[in-house]
Amino acid sequence: MQDNIESHLTENRVFAPPPEFAANARIGSMAEYQRLYRESIDDPEAFWSREARELLWRREWNRVLEWKAPFAKWFIGGQINVSENCLDRHLTGGRRNKAAIIWEGEPGDRQTLTYQQLHREVCRFANVLKRNHVAKGDRVIIYMPAIPEAAIAMLACARIGAVHSVVFGGFSADAIRDRIADSGATALITADGGYRRGAVVPLKRNVDDALRGTSAAAGSVKRVIVFRRTGNDIHIEEGRDVWWHRELEYVDGNCEPEPLDSEHPLYILYTSGSTGKPKGILHTTGGYLLGIYSTTKYVFDLREDDIYWCTADIGWVTGHSYVVYGPLACGATTFMYEGAPNWPEPDRFWRIIETYGVNILYTAPTAIRAFIRWGNEWVKKHDLSSLRLLGSVGEPINPEAWMWYRDVVGGGRCPVVDTWWQTETGAIMITALPGAIPQKPGSATLPFFGVDAAIVDEQGEEVPANAGGKLIVRKPWPSMLRTIYGDPERFEKQYWSEFKGRYLTGDGARRDEDGYFWIVGRIDDVLNVAGHRLGTSEIESALVSHPQVAEAAVVGRADELKGQAVVAFVTLKSGIEAHQELKRELREHVGKHIGAIAKPDEVRFAEALPKTRSGKIMRRLLKEIASGKSVTGDTTTLEDFSVLATLSGSEE
Ligand code: PRX
Repeated sequence: MQDNIESHLTENRVFAPPPEFAANARIGSMAEYQRLYRESIDDPEAFWSREARELLWRREWNRVLEWKAPFAKWFIGGQINVSENCLDRHLTGGRRNKAAIIWEGEPGDRQTLTYQQLHREVCRFANVLKRNHVAKGDRVIIYMPAIPEAAIAMLACARIGAVHSVVFGGFSADAIRDRIADSGATALITADGGYRRGAVVPLKRNVDDALRGTSAAAGSVKRVIVFRRTGNDIHIEEGRDVWWHRELEYVDGNCEPEPLDSEHPLYILYTSGSTGKPKGILHTTGGYLLGIYSTTKYVFDLREDDIYWCTADIGWVTGHSYVVYGPLACGATTFMYEGAPNWPEPDRFWRIIETYGVNILYTAPTAIRAFIRWGNEWVKKHDLSSLRLLGSVGEPINPEAWMWYRDVVGGGRCPVVDTWWQTETGAIMITALPGAIPQKPGSATLPFFGVDAAIVDEQGEEVPANAGGKLIVRKPWPSMLRTIYGDPERFEKQYWSEFKGRYLTGDGARRDEDGYFWIVGRIDDVLNVAGHRLGTSEIESALVSHPQVAEAAVVGRADELKGQAVVAFVTLKSGIEAHQELKRELREHVGKHIGAIAKPDEVRFAEALPKTRSGKIMRRLLKEIASGKSVTGDTTTLEDFSVLATLSGSEE
């Protein structure tokens, strides 16, 4: 989290775009940015139509935007296919034999797919999907390691108009089951396993667990397609499971892209909100493609021969937008890596950059903070002179980490773009443009084209410079989420009702006197742990599903490495004794229900949770307690917060 004192010390530092960078950039000056930004706000239809004409449409739209708040439609009447834009469009010119994906597996295996090769693999796999009765509009779960086949599966779905829902490989069987049930997916694509820190993650076994029994999920999924990655023994359920490589024997490489309505759903991606149930964020075709195309082009300012590396996993929105769709839509070379940054040693990223000559690196503050901790010697061992641009995403970056990234990784010569956005926004919303906008360490700087961002108080009034408030967006934008899958009421209530017709981000922020945005972090009950978004109530639900737990309240506490750490306050059912082993058991229990990333860093047993007279848990108080020095250390004495609650008064 942002350290206030530190940010005051460094806030005055401003890094102008290096002149040689600006000279070659698409947007090379502040004046140019301002001119285009103004146009994008005053006449969004003209701005976005011009951008959209750079894409390949099967049928031109007849209206750019229909906005019946909170429901937007972009490029109405237009027909387009994302896979055709990411692949076929690049086959006629000089990009046919250019690397589309360069990949390295954790064990060190490598693969390069040119645009032509990737196109062929996507067509073949799209035919496999058709052979397995996956049709336009069907939902398909993808639960895979970060291997090229994950991108192939996504693009193949997009090619035939099937709607994918990628589930992060670190999520558990329960999480897969919930997502299948909510999306009504009929097919699932997975691998036998994936590599992580030298071990095999048993992906297929998790899928089997998710599909066991008579749950809605088990009834829903008719076909499981399994890619062989690790070669570990797996169960093949006759009549349901098929091997990816065997299926390929029956198909050819011809598959015409399906012309799709601009508003045809492209994917559902589940993300945590402030209730126990993850929300299925729905993105559609034309507007989403335009948003990620435009941001990739301007923010990463790609050159034809760049190697671009976004380190996110495909299970998160960053992987969707900036590992797969954005760079491929731009005809770029996107680098993918399967494993952990410190495997086998803490210099894996730097080794990769040196080996492949990576030019653009896009990673997360939590990784940067880990690198700082591991020591500069790991970075210094490698020649990183190929780098020309650095990006950051996922959480607020503290100025110290920003400076380290710029100086130690970027050798002081690369612009750093801190990009603020969300699963819901689909594409980058607030960011520096590297050739135009001077950067301040710790600030995401200024809004991207078409983004009407503002900071408001509780009443929805814009606050003066440097006053904190809620970050909102006042106008629709092309890549915005269209709804929460199957729950338009929740969509409206969650994002559009507090300030009617305006989008509530859930983040707190301030704008300085230059109009620069400084994002503080979530102000709702969502945590950001190591760049992973987790709902406190989701973890609470997991905890209370344990037979010995009566009540649970989960809060975040600042953590130097992970941004936030998870602290769980738990009361036990009567007659159950608190003990050390139970703490461990509860952590494992959460891991089983959600995934290892959600395991509480600290479990604290309490007599009772502090509550207001109306019975609401006093979260603010618990946050303070969690941030303070641990009162009881690691003992299992029941803490009694009722006295504290009385002292601090009511939160009502
Ligand atoms: O709190 C903000 C934080 O991550 C949240 C969105 O999480 P998610 O939907 O998982 O998407 C992450 C990748 C886009 C936001 O509400 N966040 C993301 N980027 C930044 C950030 N906070 C500060 N600065 C950023 N650059």
